[in-house]
Amino acid sequence: MSKRIAVIVGSLRKDSINRKVARALQRLAPPALSLELIDIGGLALYNQDFDLEPPAPAYAAFREQIRQADGVIFVTPEHNRSMPAAMKNAVDIASRPPGHNAWSGKPGAVISASPGLQGGFGANHHLRQSLACLDVLCMAQPETYLSQAPKLFDEAGEPNEEGRKYLSRFIDAYAGWVERLTA
Ligand code: FNR
Repeated sequence: MSKRIAVIVGSLRKDSINRKVARALQRLAPPALSLELIDIGGLALYNQDFDLEPPAPAYAAFREQIRQADGVIFVTPEHNRSMPAAMKNAVDIASRPPGHNAWSGKPGAVISASPGLQGGFGANHHLRQSLACLDVLCMAQPETYLSQAPKLFDEAGEPNEEGRKYLSRFIDAYAGWVERLTA
């Protein structure tokens, strides 16, 4: 049976390049993996009071989706050299309440995409810093920072040959990473 992989996309916008990356990974994934894009746009801004009061239903559903996953892939844009607020919000929500960190022990991977030349390097590594603290076991290689990312997709949002090369390399390596950690 294929492993269930939760995919978190850090952009909420309709024409997001990072969502195109996530959808392409979904299609290029080997049969060992089944990728599901998890919506984080409906998650209210995290408030520590929610650790004591019953959390909003959207929080419970999101945490459960992460708990049920065999692994998690983070697809992140870069906002001001870091991850977007929506991504950090999702990371924080599933890390709480204390003692119930839903991310813990999951085989993870981070991929970033930007129209700029640095491919979201800053966001990618800020995110890895939080994931280390949360016990996500992040794949180290291949590092994947997709620079000038719109050039990797055609008008229909499909990756071109170069795009497929980077994305296949990433998702095939991740399948191996999941197998190593869950065998
Ligand atoms: C950006 N963008 C950006 N790009 C980058 O490479 N480094 C950066 O630090 C920033 N900073 C930044 C801040 C804010 C507030 C916005 C809205 C945008 C540009 C960004 O890479 C571009 O909008 C991407 O298209 C965002 O990814 P999605 O939404 O297409 O997936």
